[in-house]
Amino acid sequence: MTNHRQPAPLKLPRGTQDILPDAWPLWRHAFRTAERVAEGAGYARIETPMFESTSLFTHATGEHTDVNREMYTFEDRGGDELSLRPEGTASVFRAYFQHGMKVLAQPVKLYYIGSMFRYERPQRGRFREHHQFGCEAIGSSDPLVDASLVAVQDRYYRALSVGETRIQVNSIGDQSCRPGFLIELVAYLRQHTSELCGQCRDRVERNPLRVLDCKVESCQPVLDAAPRMLDSLCDDCRSHWDGFMSGIHALDLPAEVNPRLVRGLDYYTRTVWEFQPDAPGGAQSTLGGGGRYDALAEAIGAPATPGVGFSTGVERVMLNIDSEIAAGLASDSIDAFVTSTGPEAELRALSVTAALWSDGIRADMSFDNRSLGTQLKQANARDAAVAILLGDQELAREIATVKLLRSGEQREIPLADIQAVVHDLISGLR
Ligand code: HAM
Repeated sequence: MTNHRQPAPLKLPRGTQDILPDAWPLWRHAFRTAERVAEGAGYARIETPMFESTSLFTHATGEHTDVNREMYTFEDRGGDELSLRPEGTASVFRAYFQHGMKVLAQPVKLYYIGSMFRYERPQRGRFREHHQFGCEAIGSSDPLVDASLVAVQDRYYRALSVGETRIQVNSIGDQSCRPGFLIELVAYLRQHTSELCGQCRDRVERNPLRVLDCKVESCQPVLDAAPRMLDSLCDDCRSHWDGFMSGIHALDLPAEVNPRLVRGLDYYTRTVWEFQPDAPGGAQSTLGGGGRYDALAEAIGAPATPGVGFSTGVERVMLNIDSEIAAGLASDSIDAFVTSTGPEAELRALSVTAALWSDGIRADMSFDNRSLGTQLKQANARDAAVAILLGDQELAREIATVKLLRSGEQREIPLADIQAVVHDLISGLR
């Protein structure tokens, strides 16, 4: 129960962050680059709700996955079981069916940028609310779609100067060859349980594929010698894998085959991949990953439909952007700052500022009757190009003083001409 007598904490929830104005240019750069790269590759924007029925995510991500356990789940006032989205693929897939996108030319290519929520232990690059940029291509089994998505993800990192990355790829088979492989894998792991860490031992029965992903040093010899899914692919998965790798080679992408690469969500079939920064990092080093999810439709009770996609954590990407590039991004400045001395002048400043806005000039003004010196400091702090000085005496003559803040040059101009003059001055300075 909320105690209304306790003051609300003036502190954000653990694992979340405020994006402050100083940080925004870098975020905007990451978001706009995502839009440019995705749209440039033929992906159209989709927005889905931040919460959906819990069962959509549970069926899609798998009951025994970390992602499922980490969901923020609640019952709303009408008794519906809902969850904040922990990822974007399930929602995009749901929207594809709900809006009859099967009748469109396939694959339907959609991208999203938005917050995802996972109750994880926060640390560098790991948040409870994080942002993902993701692309999904739904309705095609062609392995070259998979390869093209790896190329789109690679383009994003290159466009942002994220530095060198390592691309790891693998195939985890499908429903026809994976069950046989899992029997073989579990039998092998059971023979070696005493050599495995506690988490691996726990996963052998619940989620054996994830055991292959363990990074604990002492588990490595057993896992390196474990059976490999790539050696057990059925004919269809084998030819899909060969097609994918032909695409990767045709694109000249430096992908490494990692037969132990698996992903943390149950919906994947066949192709999976991950990008890591090519620098020593901790467990949070994965920039992003993706794969094919041909079994997702069945898991959520939809008609059989293939799909493939990736997503990347925007926070992880920003940690790796070259610091000089990040520092060089323009911060948010304004074109004009209107100062005023006296209440009548302040009123006039208000209408002059609004007129500048309607002319497409980024303008702001001073409030609270501060001294002219303070107002000019405000103008400089906002990196304004010009200040428009309005005082009662100037108003009596229907003029204003326009000052170029970088050179200090100033002149009087009739108030009626103010928009046109400021417009010309700004265009000359841009
Ligand atoms: P995922 O690997 O669970 O895949 O998450 C994608 C990326 O989101 C991760 O590689 C990481 O960069 C970022 N990420 C995940 N959790 C956090 C966190 N707690 N804090 C910061 N960043 C995080 C998916 O979500 C799939 N939906 C990807 C996909 C799309 N597969 C096919 N289509």
